[in-house]
Amino acid sequence: MTLQIITGAQWGDEGKGRIVDWFAAQADLVARFNGGDNAGHSVTVGETLFKLHLVPSGIIHPKPVAVLGNGMVLNLRSLAAEVDMLQAAGIEITPARLRISHAAHIITPAHTALDAALEAARGGSSIGTTGRGIGPAYTSKAERSGLRMADLLAVNAGERIFAHVEACNRTLRALNAQPLNPTAVAEELHACAQRFAPFVADTAYESHQTLAQGGLLLAEGAQGTLLDIDHGTYPYVTSSATVAAGVFTGLGLGVTAAQNAVVTGVCKCFQTRVGSGPFPTEVDGDLALRLRGSGANPWDEYGTTTGRPRRVGWLDGVLLRYAARINGLTELVITKLDILSGFESLKLCVAYTKDGKTYPDLPFGPTELEGYEPVYEEMPGWDEDLSPLRDWDALPEAARRYLNAISRLTGLPVRLVSVGPEREQLVENPAYPR
Ligand code: IMP
Repeated sequence: MTLQIITGAQWGDEGKGRIVDWFAAQADLVARFNGGDNAGHSVTVGETLFKLHLVPSGIIHPKPVAVLGNGMVLNLRSLAAEVDMLQAAGIEITPARLRISHAAHIITPAHTALDAALEAARGGSSIGTTGRGIGPAYTSKAERSGLRMADLLAVNAGERIFAHVEACNRTLRALNAQPLNPTAVAEELHACAQRFAPFVADTAYESHQTLAQGGLLLAEGAQGTLLDIDHGTYPYVTSSATVAAGVFTGLGLGVTAAQNAVVTGVCKCFQTRVGSGPFPTEVDGDLALRLRGSGANPWDEYGTTTGRPRRVGWLDGVLLRYAARINGLTELVITKLDILSGFESLKLCVAYTKDGKTYPDLPFGPTELEGYEPVYEEMPGWDEDLSPLRDWDALPEAARRYLNAISRLTGLPVRLVSVGPEREQLVENPAYPR
């Protein structure tokens, strides 16, 4: 039985999609366990760039079954568009290959309208959500008024949808926002539910069976550790459990499945964040532009889901150590190392300082970052273009020194490094413990 969890070690956008794609060739089942179409996972195969928001990145390989787990919130209109896109690209999407949990919650048009109205009402202290209705859908779930996939297929689905829309309309009116027409919402949800009915399954049972039969289950995290509802930079977080532990409730696995699990933390070699909230190592001006890119390339730092320019900064080793601990990471994958070519020197945050005191670890978790200043270790950069390299020993010495510094700081081996957006632009560490 093998469980491998791929989780974001930062504020999301670490490049998890293409890393899942790399491991998925061997997997039997690839499952998303949290979030919804707020995620944007990109995989480049030859000339084709796949931008996935809901379907696990493993679907691009012919072997694994793809699962949308019960911990997710699903916008079925987005799912339909994504399935159409995949089918047009020649990827087979049948009920045998794509399984949707009967217990996954549905994001309705009323949730999306509420997301916009609530953000507008927050004014200057808005969270900067992706506008996909994520928070309202998880609110309905916690309030026990949500609609699950199975509810849309029940005989009284219409009644439930009407009650849901009426409840959301009361809040929308209170926020001076436009209420929705329950009949139109019910018609849309009904059509989508009929299309996906053959895909609905007890995915918790199927996930358990995969492990019981000795298969490899790859769990694909969305967003990142610092956006976790409990362990992130609250309130500037998403509404789901993004950390590795979310796999157990979000897929319905017993915690004993964690024995010998591989927990892969994916981390960019610098720091990025979309939306509001603290960011101690943030930079601006020319340096920010160099790290972010102009936006001309799909891999530049602009949101896959929203197109917003991402905030950028130096790699924060304090937050990375925190992510290693909270997730129980067993290894790291470092992405976008090629972007650091040409920097004369590089900074790595190794501690924080406040009122003359130095903190190698977060004193109160990441919610209390106000007033903490980063302490940097400065290292020489390199000029070489890393994008054609596939051999660890061919990496410039300065690049290996930078990776070693990250390893030392976190106590974790670096298993893989990405040096470009293409599927094969990955360098394996030959010293990785096997
Ligand atoms: P929500 O998930 O749309 O409610 O957004 C809450 C916060 O999480 C906002 O700051 C978003 O920018 C951020 N966020 C949500 N999904 C992602 C993602 O996939 N990558 C990066 N940031 C995200």
